[in-house]
This record gives sequence, structure tokens and C-alpha cells, in this order.
Amino acid sequence: MHVLLATSELNPYSKTGGLADMVSALARALAGTGLRVSVVTPLYRGMVHSNPSIEPTSWRWAIPMGDSLVEGRFHCHKPSPNLTLWFVEQAGFFDRPGLYGEVGRDYADNSARFIFLSRAALILARHLPDPPKVLHCHDWQTGLIPILARHARLQTGWAQPPRTIVTVHNLAFQGSFPTASWALTGLPSDWLHWESALHFERVNFLKAGLTQAQAITTVSPNYAQEILTPEYGCGLEGLLLKRYNDLGGILNGVDYEEWNSASDPALPAAFSAQDLSGKAVCKAALQREMGLPENPSVPLFANISRLTEQKGSALIIQTVGSLIAAGESLQFVQLGSGEPTLENAFRDLAQRFPDQVAARIGFDPGLSHRIEAGADFYLMPSRFEPCGLNQLYSLRYGAIPIVRATGGLQDSVIDPRDNAAQATGIKFTTYSAAALHKAVLKALALWKEPAWLKHIRHNGMTADFSWEKQSAEYVALYESVCRE
Ligand code: ADP
Ligand code: GLC
Repeated sequence: MHVLLATSELNPYSKTGGLADMVSALARALAGTGLRVSVVTPLYRGMVHSNPSIEPTSWRWAIPMGDSLVEGRFHCHKPSPNLTLWFVEQAGFFDRPGLYGEVGRDYADNSARFIFLSRAALILARHLPDPPKVLHCHDWQTGLIPILARHARLQTGWAQPPRTIVTVHNLAFQGSFPTASWALTGLPSDWLHWESALHFERVNFLKAGLTQAQAITTVSPNYAQEILTPEYGCGLEGLLLKRYNDLGGILNGVDYEEWNSASDPALPAAFSAQDLSGKAVCKAALQREMGLPENPSVPLFANISRLTEQKGSALIIQTVGSLIAAGESLQFVQLGSGEPTLENAFRDLAQRFPDQVAARIGFDPGLSHRIEAGADFYLMPSRFEPCGLNQLYSLRYGAIPIVRATGGLQDSVIDPRDNAAQATGIKFTTYSAAALHKAVLKALALWKEPAWLKHIRHNGMTADFSWEKQSAEYVALYESVCRE
């Protein structure tokens, strides 16, 4: 079977968050099972320069969008025999400094940019010599693909377009635009209605996918249940309830080739669950790199994330500040960027407590690996978390996760109260600084119990979240939509 994955981000070529990691790891794992896998994604600025293996093809085409004809071209890279990556060149849309926007503002033409990507994906699907049987769309940026495919079948004589699946990585981002953008889709105006993409007088790209795809998945079983409620459904819970029989949750995996503490080129020393001596070296190096006193006996907490409400950044600021002010002995390292008030709040915290807090505002994949390797505990107090990858990386790198029991965090971390023998981290329930505070106090108590600490860390480091396991669920889903 041939499967085409459509995504706006693909690690290591383009990345703002977990979507990039997920799609690239899933594609590799699927190809490893023997499936033929293609991925289609934009060719953003600088990608050709930093990846000489991406080669231009002579496959050029043009898409009528409103009054203009927009030209595009595919670039291609084949990292392994079963895996082909297709990059959509359209300089006007994608040769820009940001993926979605700059200095905190989305590009004004994001609707046009991702309509173009979605239509390009269908050109690829239709004209490849071995057309895909399944087109697997990720998030709102490719949410229009299922309706575009249906239109192609009904009105342009494409006898067998691929079956479509939409995976929701984050329901909070839906791609909502003024209805004028519908004209750029090339779809008839009467196809825009409440049962398709219209949502409160706007075009909603994700809703289009959720109404039209053959199957819907999200990135953890628990989040698949949560999004059926008003608290997590972001206004789409009614629609999701209607599609309950077509909705499932498949937990993300980890690319253990990239996240392998025994061979990670970003780390100053290698380590493993069997031999943690290298982790002590990584901790000392991280303390030096971040300008903190080098001290093995102080527990080092960390967080790496987009700085937003979703990630509970404000809770971290409050909790770390109050614990240190109360005289607790701990260090905290933050890597992230996002909302300017949160960026400034982390800078302020680091200035107030220079011997205990360090904040690096920016995006730095190498440092993110060194932080996971050097940290003793990882804070993830998310308000909601469809899956979350950093708690999985933390588990493998021996940074014990402290998580709010939501979404994929609930599915992937085991608290000692639930199962002492298999515990991998610390969980709390309420989204509040007080609840996080209590959880961090538990971690500080754990730090003073070396045997327990070792047990929990070892459980986490040896837990298996490999894609080899998870990808089988996607293969089963692809087979089932093809049978329908
Ligand atoms: P989300 O996709 O919601 O941002 P995930 O936990 O699924 O959350 O994935 C986030 C990914 O982005 C992880 O690989 C994480 O290490 C990475 N990341 C987030 N912020 C940064 C940053 N400032 N520098 C480097 N990597 C980052
Ligand atoms: C989203 C979610 C995150 C998930 C990631 C990859 O960005 O916020 O929880 O891990 O997608 O699926």
C-alpha cells in the first residue's frame, strides 16, 4: 500500500513543535513496516541550502486561485527506498522567515498558503505513477484535503481519489478565516455550509476535515475522549460526538534514533539506563552552559516549550519563584519562546535568582537535547496536551516528568499512587500553581530518597514508546479505511 502524509512541518527540515517530530517519525516507522510512504510539505526558506539532498524536479504546475494562476514545483528527496519526501516550492508563499508568521503575528495570507499546499498535495496524489490509497492529513493546514478530494471525484472525473484521514494534533488551532478565502479553494460556493467547513460565518479548515474525512484520529486515546467535552472540544465537540464511531486516539511514539542518550551527538557524554555516569557529566555541562553553579547535589528541574497558556508556563513561573523564595534548594532551566509577557517573566525570574534559574529565550534543538539529558526532573503542567512529546523524551533521558494528568500526559506517565512498581513520574490533577507546587515538593522529597528515585528513573528510561509499536495502529487504520 502507498500512503501520502500531508503536513506543514517536517523534522528536521521545518519545525515549530511536536507536529514536525510526529510526522517525520511516523513516516519513517511506516516505511520500516514495508509500506510505501510519501510526505508532502512546503519548501520553506533556506531548506534547499541546508539540505543539499533535496533536489528540484521538472514537475511544475499551476493552480488557479481567485484571479491569479499560482505556479508551483515539486522538489524531492528519497531518504530510504520506501520513503519519498515531496517539497512544494512556491516562493511567494513559503520563502519567508517564519513558517506561520513573524514577531508573534500570523501571516495575513495563511489561508491562501495552506489552500495551496492542500491543492498541491492532491496534484501529487492524482498524478504520481503509483497513486496513494490513503491521504493522511495533519492539523488544520491540510484540513481541506478531504473535501478537495471529494470534489475531484464528483466533479472532475477522478475515479479513485485516496481515502482520507485527518489527525488532530491540537484542536485549539483550527484555521479559521473569512469566508472570502473559500474562493481560493476552487470549490463551488454552495459547498460551503454548516455541514462542511462553515463555522460561525467563517471558513474553518479543520472542521472541513473533521466533517469530510473517512476517519479522524488524535494523538492520544485520552485526548480523543476529552475533545468530546465542552472543556476540551474548542466548540467542535458536537461535531466530534456525531463522528464518534470514526474517531480514535493513537498515542505518539518517540524516534529513538534521534532520542538515544547512548549515541546523541548533541550531548557531551553518553549514558543509558544501565550506566548513568554520563548523565552526571551532562548535568554539570548543562549547569555550566546555562551559567548556573555546578553542583551535582541540587535537583535540576527543566521545561522546554512554546510559551503559551496551553503549556502552563505561568504556573511554572509562579511555582518556581515561590519555592525558591521560600528557601528551597533547586535549580530550574527554561528553554522556549512565545508570548512576550511570558518570555519577560522568565527573564525576570532568572534575574531575580541568577544562581538558581536560567532562561534561554529562543528555539534551539541541540540545547533541548542537552536539557533533557542534564535535568533531573521535567515540568509539564499543561492546561491541555493532545499528546506531548517532551515527557516521552524526558522519560528516556532520565529526567523524571512531573505532569498534569491531561491528554497524552495521562496516558504516558505512571504515578506511584497508581502503580508503585511501575511508576515513572509524578502526576497532579488541578490546573493551578498550588497543585504544581505540591507536586514539586513531592519531587524534592523523592530527591532525598535515592533508592526510590533510581527505581522511578529506571522505569521511565526503560519504558517503550517506540514508533514500531504505535505505527502498527496506523497501518491497521489505513487498511480499515481502504476496506470501507
Ligand atoms: P507542542 O507540539 O504542543 O509544542 P510537543 O511536546 O508535542 O508540544 O512537542 C514540542 C517539540 O518542540 C519538542 O520536540 C520540543 O523539544 C520542541 N521545542 C519546543 N520549544 C522548543 C525550543 N524553544 N527549542 C527547541 N525545541 C523546542
Ligand atoms: C501538538 C500538541 C502536542 C502533540 C504534538 C504532536 O502540537 O500540542 O501535544 O504532542 O502536536 O502530535
